Amino acid sequence: MAPKPLDYESLNENVKKSVYAVRGELYLRASELQKEGKKIIFTNVGNPHALGQKPLTFPRQVVALCQAPFLLDDPNVGLLFPADAIARATHYLAMTSGGLGAYSDSRGLPGIRKEVAEFIERRDGYPSDPELIYLTDGASKGVMQILNAIIRNNKDGILVPVPQYPLYSATIALYGGSLVPYYLEESANWGLDIKNLRQSISEARSKGIEVRAMVIINPGNPTGQCLSAANIREILEFCYVENLALLADEVYQQNIYQDERPFVSAKKILMEMGLPISMEVQLVSYHTVSKGYWGECGQRGGYFEMTNLSPETVDEMYKISSISLSPNVPAQIFMGLMVNPPKPGDISFMRFAAESKEILESLRRRARIMTDGFNSCRNVVCNFTEGAMYSFPQIRLPPKAIEAAKRAGKVPDVFYCLKLLEATGISTVPGSGFGQKEGVFHLRTTILPAEQDMPEIMASFKKFNDEFMEQYEHHRGYSRM
Ligand SMILES: Cc1ncc(COP(=O)(O)O)c(C=O)c1O
Repeated sequence: MAPKPLDYESLNENVKKSVYAVRGELYLRASELQKEGKKIIFTNVGNPHALGQKPLTFPRQVVALCQAPFLLDDPNVGLLFPADAIARATHYLAMTSGGLGAYSDSRGLPGIRKEVAEFIERRDGYPSDPELIYLTDGASKGVMQILNAIIRNNKDGILVPVPQYPLYSATIALYGGSLVPYYLEESANWGLDIKNLRQSISEARSKGIEVRAMVIINPGNPTGQCLSAANIREILEFCYVENLALLADEVYQQNIYQDERPFVSAKKILMEMGLPISMEVQLVSYHTVSKGYWGECGQRGGYFEMTNLSPETVDEMYKISSISLSPNVPAQIFMGLMVNPPKPGDISFMRFAAESKEILESLRRRARIMTDGFNSCRNVVCNFTEGAMYSFPQIRLPPKAIEAAKRAGKVPDVFYCLKLLEATGISTVPGSGFGQKEGVFHLRTTILPAEQDMPEIMASFKKFNDEFMEQYEHHRGYSRM
């Protein structure tokens, strides 16, 4: 009998090809162990609240009032909520056509898109048009929407940094395009060398691939590097010369842990470059409420801003957004609050500022503890996490460990990460899930476990790692990179 349409063998091949490592074999095994009662430290997803981060008070107050508008009519509301939260809830409810239970415009509430545009203008010092900003259910949905529009067939290529966040590889596979990798330089703190870009594009072209867009992740996931303004300028020039659209994934723009390279947006650099580039390079920039000191991953709120896209394309994007009617309305309010937080002088300002500062400062300390911890381990080298939420140490696996992995039918870094999980309960993602150079192995962990737990986690990692190396090493003294 012919297979039924939803039988595995008759599914769209692109669905089967699309792999998402962050919730792959390691995550499944960790979930199993958890069911068996083992304590698991989930460091596989950048999901801060799942690791104990407390939500910021002010945005939750505002959204609570928007969700339960009858509280606004309660004579005691002022005892429970500060006046600026009440005012802000009233402000947002007035933008909706029936509160949070009603669909909004498919591009998001116009008032919130205006707040986003004002934020971008303040941040970059250049105008931003709310008509070119679409609110989405997390940045991921916006990335998928734009990649869907760019990829026409398997000869359409997208330049993606390697190591990369698997949203990109998975989505390109799902839409049947070709991922064109460009390698980040681990020995240069995961910097982006324009020579590597040129090489990647010419190799792809020699295979008949039409490279149409380039992705940058700044600050990087999983690699944690921050791009300098000069580097972004080179990238934009490259996109101009090569006729590529640039997708700038800037979801970690608040997560910066060093002072030498503050975050600069691709939009700002593009505008600074002046004509003709500033009017020619097509740029789509992404942001989210999931990261930064907000960490509101479960709310699913994001936006993208389109620069130098034709009005016809912007209309097509509107049509595509309309298919799913409306982005989450509560998440849109989180976005409004993120881009327009309490200001000095507001009743909630001091508390908001103290809460956000505490989170960011702790993340900065945790980035340091983790990097130092990894670098104290045998055969492990790790670049400092300059930004984002991850540490991506290189694990120099001895040949005997690689052989043992092969015998066990596992990719070597998967083998190592599984053993780490079984021994310590630390759930990481093997580097092969993000792409890495042939014969080089990594793992990715978030820097999100609670700060007071960090020393113990790193001690337990070191104990496991050093015993693993002892077990598999023929001889000592591997040279470091
Ligand atoms: C680089 C990068 N882009 C996008 C996303 C997705 O964010 P969102 O929760 O807004 O969909 C993530 C999530 O981890 C990410 O690391």
